[in-house]
Amino acid sequence: MNKPPQAPLRLGIAGLGTVGVGVVKIIRQKANILAARSGRPIVITAVCARTRDKDRGVNLNDYAWEDDPVALAKRDDVDVFIELMGGHEGPAKDATEAAIAAGKDVVTANKALLAHHGQALAIAAENADRVIRFEAAVAGGIPVIKALTEGLAGNDITRVMGVMNGTCNYILTRMESAGLPYDTVFQEAADLGYLEADPNLDVGGIDAGHKLAILAAIAFGTEVSFDSVELEGIERITIEDIHQAADMGFKIKLLGVSQITGRGLEQRMSPCLVPDNSPLGQLDGGTNMVVLEGDEVGQIVLRGAGAGMGPTASAVMGDVMDIARGTRLPVFGQPAATLTAARPARSATPAPYYLRLSLEDKPGALAKIATILGETGISIDRMRQYGHDEPSAPVLIVTHKTTRDSLDTALAAIAKTAVTTSAPVALRIETV
Ligand code: NAP
Ligand code: HSE
Repeated sequence: MNKPPQAPLRLGIAGLGTVGVGVVKIIRQKANILAARSGRPIVITAVCARTRDKDRGVNLNDYAWEDDPVALAKRDDVDVFIELMGGHEGPAKDATEAAIAAGKDVVTANKALLAHHGQALAIAAENADRVIRFEAAVAGGIPVIKALTEGLAGNDITRVMGVMNGTCNYILTRMESAGLPYDTVFQEAADLGYLEADPNLDVGGIDAGHKLAILAAIAFGTEVSFDSVELEGIERITIEDIHQAADMGFKIKLLGVSQITGRGLEQRMSPCLVPDNSPLGQLDGGTNMVVLEGDEVGQIVLRGAGAGMGPTASAVMGDVMDIARGTRLPVFGQPAATLTAARPARSATPAPYYLRLSLEDKPGALAKIATILGETGISIDRMRQYGHDEPSAPVLIVTHKTTRDSLDTALAAIAKTAVTTSAPVALRIETV
């Protein structure tokens, strides 16, 4: 029996940069297969960017142009507003709110917007019977949102982990493979166009923290709580840290971990040592990896490109196809009104720590450190003085398992002794 032809799904795309152009290309090049798979034509009716006369390497003549993303979001000939501008305030937020108010579904790649305003946007969308889809916002081309909301819907998720910022993983792995210092590799990443407009979003761990907060909301049924993510960036990691970690059989990764414990929701994004032969340790360059653990399924490992035109546009298109097919899920996998307010808890799971201290090279300096650690109940597993560079003595200590609270107490006491010549670096050792 022949089905009646379905009306086209009409898209309005705001933002024609890396991701927006990638989406336009897929729709232009794969129109037939997209229509066959979704059961209806997928068409672009209107687009918007800041500069109209920029050569973007793709033909835009078939589409209406809007200078104002809010005007685009309200157009009568747009069914789905695709937000690919970025930023968590201003045009992205205004246009997304306008789209929902005008009865449009929304697809976005904007993790900052969702991390800061996800709950309010989800409530607005669900009250208006609209959907917001955001596969591209977390881990680029990896379909992790779909995995959590659909494939793993029968699980109680127990833990979410991952390396979710490709730029940081590129910097850390390149430092190791080329033996180059942080500043040199940071500049390389900038020259390659990897860094966000504000590089602190990448190297400060903020971008990855946004992604972790979004995943935690879906995984644990809590309101997005980016402000409670314990954040630490990679800026203070030196080539010596990388070498010392490698000597012990570890790699340094900017690792996110989120779990619900009896104390509340733990979310941390920080550089950690992971075993070099583990899946996370083997992750090179700009690749991302997300590890999901559920009570029924056990552990799932997803790996793939975390950024770039093709992978990110691929994720946007997955969302568009779901809307075209009529798949309509609550924004965070369950109605936003049923998400519980997150009760933030500081990570309390004990772990061994890597400590790098730079001490004054004088009698008793090391003894003071050992005493403080002992008095704080922190046991030393290994200790090494290396690369002796007067007047400072670099000292590496690996502790037995301790809590971050105990370590911070010890670090505060160490700071008061005035035997350190710079702030210590403390990295958790994860045996994942
Ligand atoms: P981009 O290359 O900087 O492009 C941004 C686009 O938005 C540009 O076309 C720009 O116009 C347009 N734009 C900015 N402000 C505007 C305004 N006020 N009005 C109209 N248009 C405006 O950014 P992108 O890399 O494609 O990223 C887009 C979104 O995807 C961001 O939320 C980002 O975090 C997310 N994302 C990106 C990647 C990636 O690999 N790039 C991966 C995952 C998620 P002009 O071109 O005229 O300046
Ligand atoms: N700056 C991000 C990264 C882009 O390096 O992973 C993808 O979200």
